[in-house]
Amino acid sequence: MFSVHKAVFPVAGIDTRFLPATKSSPKEMLPIIDKPLIQYAVEEAIAAGITELIFVTGRGKRVIEDHFDKSYEVEHVLMARGMQNLVEIVQDVMPRHAKCVYVRQAEPLGLGHAVLCAQKLIGDEPFAVVLADDLLEGQPPVLEQMIHLFSHYDCSVLAVEEFESSEAPDHGVIDGRHWDERVISVSGIVEKPAPENAPSNYGIAGRYVLMPGIFEHLRPVRPDAQGQIHLTPAIDSMLKDEQVLGYEFVGTRYDCGTKLGYLKATVDFALHHKEVRDPFGAWLHSRVGDVRG
Ligand code: UTP
Repeated sequence: MFSVHKAVFPVAGIDTRFLPATKSSPKEMLPIIDKPLIQYAVEEAIAAGITELIFVTGRGKRVIEDHFDKSYEVEHVLMARGMQNLVEIVQDVMPRHAKCVYVRQAEPLGLGHAVLCAQKLIGDEPFAVVLADDLLEGQPPVLEQMIHLFSHYDCSVLAVEEFESSEAPDHGVIDGRHWDERVISVSGIVEKPAPENAPSNYGIAGRYVLMPGIFEHLRPVRPDAQGQIHLTPAIDSMLKDEQVLGYEFVGTRYDCGTKLGYLKATVDFALHHKEVRDPFGAWLHSRVGDVRG
């Protein structure tokens, strides 16, 4: 039986939808209240038992590295000011037992290409891919749910969720057959189909647990008309050799790669944040009255 110790965090996209905020820093550093998106993703991975975190970086590499590095200077200043609770928050950004590795994607040639950049660091073992701009809230955390399923079936698992058919062009869409309420045996995948060509209403959310066989299928994938090498054609090709499961996770997905999804996450998280939930809730209530009026 395999277990999953490594996770790849591709953070090298061009991030057009958040320009100019993302001109010099990746969108994964955008905060939801007081934590950057990438930190939520890392916390989810650590909770799922991941011990090696592989960041595929492009522009703004330094910002991500600095965020997960020890900061003696910040800790020193906080300590001198007697802010012990903040020292702990800063130290807890990365648990001591976890290892961070960085690999460069020289050009943003697509998610499939970004995953391929991590091949040497993955080697011959199953691994997770976590897209931090999909913020997934679940209890247990969604990656933990997926690794649990993976350890049962020993095959690749894709997080999926049901969407409105008009949203098909925003998703990688799976074809398949339900094994049970939440588990789908995948028989095909189409990247961003027109609604009339979508094989189902199940789209891939940004979490994957993949067998290392994926690399063999990634290498021959050719760029699309925009020069992007996608991950979905490689998974589609892998279906010829291996079982792949879609897993309808228990939880909520916020697509923080879009302005609307990012705003929804900010509001929902603020309504649960112990420091701001009461005043923010009261303010929001008054604003809703204004909007209705
Ligand atoms: P997106 O499809 O959201 O693309 O990437 P993008 O460039 O980040 O953003 P938009 O659409 O222009 O606003 C999905 C994930 O894959 C990573 C991104 O960082 C994001 O986590 N990615 C994408 C890479 O690491 N490299 C790439 O070449 C493309």
